Amino acid sequence: MFNADAFINETIESLKQEIQGNAIIACSGGVDSTVAAVLVSRAIGDRLLTIYVNNGFMRKGEDEEVQKMLTDLNVNFQIIDASEEFYKALQGVLDPEKKRKIIGEKFIRIFERSAKEFNAEYLVQGTIAPDWIESGDGVRDTIKSHHNVGGLPQDMKLKIVEPMYDLYKDEVREVARALNIKVSERQPFPGPALAIRVIGEANRENAAIVRDACAIVEEELEKASLEGKMVRPWQYFAVLLPCQSVGVQGDNRAYGKTIAIRAVESIDGMSAAYSRIPYEVLDKISMRITREMKQNINRVVYDITNKPPATIEWE
Ligand code: XMP
Repeated sequence: MFNADAFINETIESLKQEIQGNAIIACSGGVDSTVAAVLVSRAIGDRLLTIYVNNGFMRKGEDEEVQKMLTDLNVNFQIIDASEEFYKALQGVLDPEKKRKIIGEKFIRIFERSAKEFNAEYLVQGTIAPDWIESGDGVRDTIKSHHNVGGLPQDMKLKIVEPMYDLYKDEVREVARALNIKVSERQPFPGPALAIRVIGEANRENAAIVRDACAIVEEELEKASLEGKMVRPWQYFAVLLPCQSVGVQGDNRAYGKTIAIRAVESIDGMSAAYSRIPYEVLDKISMRITREMKQNINRVVYDITNKPPATIEWE
C-alpha cells in the first residue's frame, strides 16, 4: 500500500543528498511538475528555480492561475513567454512525433538558457511511470514520446532529477494532497499542451480555436457534474481536426473545421474507457461551440473509442 507521507519524507532526504548545487524545474501548473517543484523546493529551498514557460499552447486563464499558485506555494519562480519561439519552430510541421520532439527540444533549450543564467547543474522533471513506460524503454515499443522523456536531445548538459519516476498518477495525486497542493483535483494535462490537440499545424490561430473549444468542454462538463447530471470524467477536452465539412449558416453555405470532444474514465491513464456523457450535455457543448465559434467550426463529433486501441490524446 502506497504511503504518501513516507514517500515525501524519504524523497526529500534523498534529494538533499542527490542535488549538490543549483537546480531548475519547469512547472506547467499540472500536478506532476507542481509536486516535483514542491518536493525539491522543500529539500533545497531557493537553490531551486521554478520556471513557468508560456509555450503559446496553454489553456484559457492558465498563465494567471499558475502564477497565483506558485506565489501561494512560496517557491522561487520566474515566468518566461516563449510563445513566438514555439509557433516558429512548429511552422509547417504536421507529424505528431516530430511535433512532440520539437516541443520537447525547445523546452530543453529554454531550460538550458535559464539554467545557465541561474548556474544550475540539475534539471528536475515531473516524469512518472506511465511517461517512460509508453516512451519505449525496452518494456514496450514506442507509442508516443512523452515530451518530458523522449524529446531530450543527445547533448543535454544538465543532470536529470526525477523524484516521482516510479509513481503512477493516482499516487502522485495522493502526494499532492499530502503536500496541500490544490492542483491535485485538476484533470491531467499533457506536457506539449494544446499543441497535440491541434491535428495539423499548431500555430497561433489554431491554438486559439482549440483553447476556446477546450474551455467550453471543461465548463459544461464541470457544470453538469456539479448539477448532478453526471460524474465528472477523469479527463475531458476538445481536439481541433483539420477536416473541413460543409454546413449551413443562415441562408449561406459554410465550410468549417471540426471539433472532436474527448472524455474518458481512467485510473492512471494507461487504459481508458470513453465517458457515457448524457446526450443533453453533449447537446449543450455542441450548441455552444457551433454558436460561439461559428467563424471557424461548423461540426462537432464525439470520440467513442477506448484506450486501447486508441490513446487518450489524438497525437
Ligand atoms: P495517451 O494519449 O498516451 O495519454 O493515452 C495518457 C495520459 O498522459 C497524458 N499525456 C502526457 N503527459 N507528457 C505528459 O506529461 C506528455 O507528453 C503527454 N502526452 C499525453 C494524457 O493527457 C493522458 O492523461
